[in-house]
Amino acid sequence: MDKIQIYGGNPLSGTIMIGGSKNASLPVMCASLLTDEPLILGNVPHLADITTMANLLSQHGVEVSLEGHDDNEGHIGRVLSLKAKDINNTTAPYDLVRKMRASILVLGPLLARAGKAVVSLPGGCAIGTRPVDLHLNGLRKLGANISVENGYIHASVPKGLSGARIIFPKISVGATENLILASVLAKGTTILQNAAKEPEINDLVNCLNSMGAKIEGIGTPNLTINGVPKLNGTRHAIMPDRIEAGTYAIAAAITGGKINLSGARLNDISSAVDSLRLAGINIQKSANGILVDRSNSELKSINIETEPYPGFPTDLQAQFISLMSAANGTSIVKETIFENRFMHVPELQRMGADITLDGGSAIVRGTKKLTGAPVMASDLRASASLVLAGLIAEGKTTVRRIYHLDRGYERLEEKLASVGAEIIRLKDEM
Ligand code: EPZ
Repeated sequence: MDKIQIYGGNPLSGTIMIGGSKNASLPVMCASLLTDEPLILGNVPHLADITTMANLLSQHGVEVSLEGHDDNEGHIGRVLSLKAKDINNTTAPYDLVRKMRASILVLGPLLARAGKAVVSLPGGCAIGTRPVDLHLNGLRKLGANISVENGYIHASVPKGLSGARIIFPKISVGATENLILASVLAKGTTILQNAAKEPEINDLVNCLNSMGAKIEGIGTPNLTINGVPKLNGTRHAIMPDRIEAGTYAIAAAITGGKINLSGARLNDISSAVDSLRLAGINIQKSANGILVDRSNSELKSINIETEPYPGFPTDLQAQFISLMSAANGTSIVKETIFENRFMHVPELQRMGADITLDGGSAIVRGTKKLTGAPVMASDLRASASLVLAGLIAEGKTTVRRIYHLDRGYERLEEKLASVGAEIIRLKDEM
């Protein structure tokens, strides 16, 4: 397994190109199941999770091909063509689903287009139990018969899905996406209340509307979806990755550097930007993205609490803990979305961070010095937090199990090296 090796201490300076969003690409790719015409997606990042989704869709009958690369202000994203002329297999097997929980997003569109689906239960993961009850109960409201047997969800709707009013008891990004994907082809009107309003959902809605869907209420917790009999293909450019942008903003902040995040959209991470500004970081819109500057300011401790959008994103919590480990004072970081998303804490402690866990909160006392150490990545964002700590730690940090990083950060070590970090990937010699 590859490792990342970092020698900390360099303030970062320069420009980093932000790629297309992983968490927007995955549901949008599933929209290809809803039409027999090609869906051409631009600005798709080159990541392990995208490959897993492409493999999953291919085995359902989607022809996935790389059309080339688009040149987005100097950034090279990928252009994928997805064409589901026929759905020839409605089973999503355990071996693919276990690699990536977002595989559950094929359930809604398979039911809508083929009237049936068998999808492996994704199971828990390092950050929490992550049930799918909200997905299943919503689909039942649209008329699906659903049972769970031998670790698989068996769903069918012989007469087709029918619109319904669904009030989510809890905000869920994935359940909102699955229900949108299912209801665009349902008979009649579906109303989703207490829906998630993450920017990635807006990206999905924009793509589906350009395929001929009739979805209203974009950006609000109430979505109205008037079902249509058929969707067409379209071309759609995936939004920039706001979590990648937030991660590199923290890289600039933690090293006392100055980075222009080219292609990033400030509005997508306004809550994280507010927190970073309170912590003493200067952030402004730049001509082509966001400029993050902490070259002349002290890093202050502040408290944060993760929340659904537009609150502080849970996907930046681990990185923020690394930042607060180097701040002046004590910070309380409360995680409210996932019950076990502190796997990075023991590894950060090994680097000298002073953190105490108290239920769903981490009490982070800033230290003057972190020290390099061999550490182990446990999930995607935890891995990013270890790299960030490594950027300021004295001496050598080696991050193992970076296959987690490769799921969501494209060429992370190249991007950080290009702005002055001393970071390399050590290839597995086995
Ligand atoms: C999405 O996961 C993201 N993944 C996650 O990013 C992100 O952390 C999360 O949203 C929250 O923002 C993708 O977009 C592919 P949820 P998702 O359903 O949709 C509970 C990353 O690092 N819940 O909004 O799976 C659940 O357990 C990843 O890129 C139920 O109880 O998250 C959690 O506590 C990690 N029942 C809360 O809701 C359900 O049926 C929010 O989860 C579904 C969810």
